[in-house]
Amino acid sequence: MPAERTRVAIVGAGPAGLLLSHLLEAAGIDSIVLDRRSREEIETTIRAGILEQGTVEILDSVPGSRARTVGHRHDGIELRFAGEGHRIDFSALVGRSVWLYPQHEVLKDLIAARLAAGQDLRFGATVDRVEGAETNTPRVIGMSSDGEPLEIAADFVVGADGSRSAVRNSVMGTRAGAFREYPFAWFGILCEAPPSSAELIYSNSPNGFALISQRSETVQRMYFQCDPDADANAPSEAELWETLQARVPGTALIEGPIFQRDVLRFRSFVAHELRRGRTALVGDAAHTVPPTGAKGMNLAVADVILLSRALQALLLEDDERGIDAYAEAALRRIWKAQHFSWWMTSMLHAAPDAGDFDRLRQLGELRSVVDSEAGRTYLAEAYTGWPLQTEL
Ligand code: PHB
Repeated sequence: MPAERTRVAIVGAGPAGLLLSHLLEAAGIDSIVLDRRSREEIETTIRAGILEQGTVEILDSVPGSRARTVGHRHDGIELRFAGEGHRIDFSALVGRSVWLYPQHEVLKDLIAARLAAGQDLRFGATVDRVEGAETNTPRVIGMSSDGEPLEIAADFVVGADGSRSAVRNSVMGTRAGAFREYPFAWFGILCEAPPSSAELIYSNSPNGFALISQRSETVQRMYFQCDPDADANAPSEAELWETLQARVPGTALIEGPIFQRDVLRFRSFVAHELRRGRTALVGDAAHTVPPTGAKGMNLAVADVILLSRALQALLLEDDERGIDAYAEAALRRIWKAQHFSWWMTSMLHAAPDAGDFDRLRQLGELRSVVDSEAGRTYLAEAYTGWPLQTEL
């Protein structure tokens, strides 16, 4: 079977893969994007909600992006503990903000823009493996949406295919990474109700963590810490509201019908190798973070900005310096974000084996942050996003 040809084969039509194909096209580099999921599945799966300012700025280059029109700017968050709320005022501290704009809306914008530009975007296409990673013509092997064998030869292959990445498994190996598991998970709900609070509330309560987030004027997203083995279908709606209300003392949550519930397990992971020969990993294929710091999608965008620069130099000027520097440059931000996500998680959740000392120390830690301008500024800087590196 003769292989099809493209310059960059991108596996995964999530935020990372789609944004990369957009940035490459703007530089005149064609690509094929493959995803095993259907367009509908991609556009309806509810995931993250917070965009860093730098993420919104890069999305401004996508024709039709609604991040600024449908999304909402948030200039701060609240940390709640020991019965008190403390606002972290991002605009006053660092002059930056974040946007609440759900990931599936970002994906709708990116898919519409890619299709309008005539992008070769294939849904329902499965990738089994990559061959020839260390040659100048790596190949993606899999199956097309109609069950036919698929083989694409490229100048470069990118794994943007999520935490169970087929590209990573086939090129870098299945167990190749540094990781940490957590003894808790998040129980997430979507409900029909107006917002209970103008900004997000991150609450450390004696009963465990809760996060009051939002999706729109009429739909709210809320989470509470639960056991990783919890059954999402077990609690009644009344029990869910009782748990949530108890964890944000001082705020009366506005209740409404709960129409989706899920249990999200936490993992911190960084692949040992982000690049081998003419393959590289971006986004969740390269790393996963617990959701507490809202870093997942933003980190994927930062990887993609670096990789797109490196691929432009490699493919347009035959300059390998950028691609040789990609992993190290990406890892600097990845490990800062890993630390921030771990820190927010450990500071706000109740570990199942925590004793009095741990609990009181944690309140001391939270006070060290909110009582100090330096502490609040560190949190605001990390949450709104460190400056994006665009040059390698
Ligand atoms: C969300 O709205 O889904 C969300 C917001 C902030 C986080 C995590 C998730 O830290």
